[in-house]
Amino acid sequence: MAEGLSNVACFSITTLLVVSLANLVLLMFLILEWRNNCISDGESIDSAYRIGALQGGNKQLSNSITRNSVNFDQKFMAALVMFKEVSSSLICGTIIVSKFWVLTSANCCYLIKGQPLERLKVVSNSENWKRGKKHSIENFVIHANYTAKSLSYNVCLIKTGSPFKEQNELPAFLASSYYHYITDTLATTLGWSSNKATTNNNIYSLDINLISFQRCQTLIKDHHVDKTMVCAYNIETHDCRFDSGGPLIQNNIVIGIASYEINCDKRIMPRLFTRISFFEKWFELVEKEHNVKINATFKY
Ligand SMILES: *[C@@H]1O[C@H](CO)[C@@H](O)[C@H](O)[C@H]1NC(C)=O
Ligand SMILES: *[C@@H]1O[C@H](CO)[C@@H](O)[C@H](O)[C@H]1NC(C)=O
Repeated sequence: MAEGLSNVACFSITTLLVVSLANLVLLMFLILEWRNNCISDGESIDSAYRIGALQGGNKQLSNSITRNSVNFDQKFMAALVMFKEVSSSLICGTIIVSKFWVLTSANCCYLIKGQPLERLKVVSNSENWKRGKKHSIENFVIHANYTAKSLSYNVCLIKTGSPFKEQNELPAFLASSYYHYITDTLATTLGWSSNKATTNNNIYSLDINLISFQRCQTLIKDHHVDKTMVCAYNIETHDCRFDSGGPLIQNNIVIGIASYEINCDKRIMPRLFTRISFFEKWFELVEKEHNVKINATFKY
């Protein structure tokens, strides 16, 4: 009898211990998970710079680059900026496409996802992103096929709360479905380098060559290059100051959105841009699904 009781007691104590241990492990797991989330939230803006400019930070190269100073005739250029109490940080470039809408890359919109919208502004009307006109952000639409891991479908539309109507705020022409991307032709990309060491907050431009899918895929071995992208590359102006969300321009038409720079410190690597012509239909889809009128202008 006594033996039976102590067996029961022993069993109970063992069960209690196992359950307590399991709870302890669960608690520790939850704490760790919570810490991880906190850390990644805090770092999400900094990582903009990594998508942005600072991947290689090759100083000798920067010195040898002829930096074209842009006459501010690219009035569709706008910045996505995060404001804190006293400071502001550049997150990405954006492209004005109509009175209330700017276009940027989905990776840029991912960086502001979960951030309070009232801290974020689209800044335009100036070649200096610190001195432009601020527009509030109402909403944004990331392409449904984009995932954080994917390089494809890297496109996002942002709706502002106030209209672009100043002298230096004009919508861009976008490449329509009929636009021909011709290999070995020159295009220009614009950005505000988020690499603070090499910039005075003014816009810069860089000329680069379009290259074929085949050549791009050969150079970028580890990532799949697909129809939602266009590659460009120019070894002379390779500078690792890449700014996501900014335009790639040819014939006065915006044909690409700066998307990714893979292994920037290896000079042979091309830059990936979102192929705008692929997304003309997507604008219509967004208009339908969200019951809005974007009124962007496509051209070929
Ligand atoms: C998303 O991807 C699927 C499969 O690749 C494709 O059929 C679909 O059209 C894409 N959606 C949009 C909006 O482009
Ligand atoms: C649509 O865009 C065109 C060209 O930018 C402009 O002339 C027109 O007034 C716009 N329409 C609306 C309703 O905003």
